[in-house]
Amino acid sequence: MGKIGIFFGSDTGNTRRVAKSIAKKLGDAADAPVDVKKASVDDLLKYDALILGTPTLGDGELPGLSAGASDESWEEFLPKLAGQDMSGKVVALFGLGDQEGYGHEFVDAMIFLYDTVIDAGAKVVGFWPTDGYTFEKSNSIVDDQFVGLVIDHENQSDQTDERLDAWLEEITPALTGA
Ligand SMILES: Cc1cc2nc3c(=O)[nH]c(=O)nc-3n(C[C@H](O)[C@H](O)[C@H](O)COP(=O)(O)O)c2cc1C
Repeated sequence: MGKIGIFFGSDTGNTRRVAKSIAKKLGDAADAPVDVKKASVDDLLKYDALILGTPTLGDGELPGLSAGASDESWEEFLPKLAGQDMSGKVVALFGLGDQEGYGHEFVDAMIFLYDTVIDAGAKVVGFWPTDGYTFEKSNSIVDDQFVGLVIDHENQSDQTDERLDAWLEEITPALTGA
């Protein structure tokens, strides 16, 4: 059984902290989280089980130079992943956003990760209910559920830990069996 790979993008560190928390909770099952700005596509593709996390920045955008982030990130990495063969891989996604400040484009960037890995043939697990969040619109909803775990550090940080625990309990069997 291979380990779970955790990759994230982050501008101000919130997504990095959530990625680290996920790794800690998974213990031996996961390798240390890697910032995509330091990763190659091969680094990511060596895993059969992946957890990918992103904040939404700019105007519903991925972190990266266009969104005003301080460095390259998912915006620059994802085009390299597009067109790769991810069939047989199991992927879980998490996204950070601010439902009060950006309720009209809440966690919009997560859908870009979803579309890319689905197009590459991966299976995505860990859809998450929209209950418990108040927002007008999100592009990251498929079949009435978020395509991954949603964390709102600005408004609901007190719920982050229990959300992580519930989500990890749900996805760990699929990831460790991959
Ligand atoms: C300039 C800016 C734009 C943002 N745009 C969005 C957005 O469109 N949708 C959203 O849900 N959150 C948005 N956010 C909130 C971030 O996603 C949130 O602060 C997140 O925790 C940042 O994660 P990071 O520290 O890993 O970069 C924005 C934040 C900033 C500073």
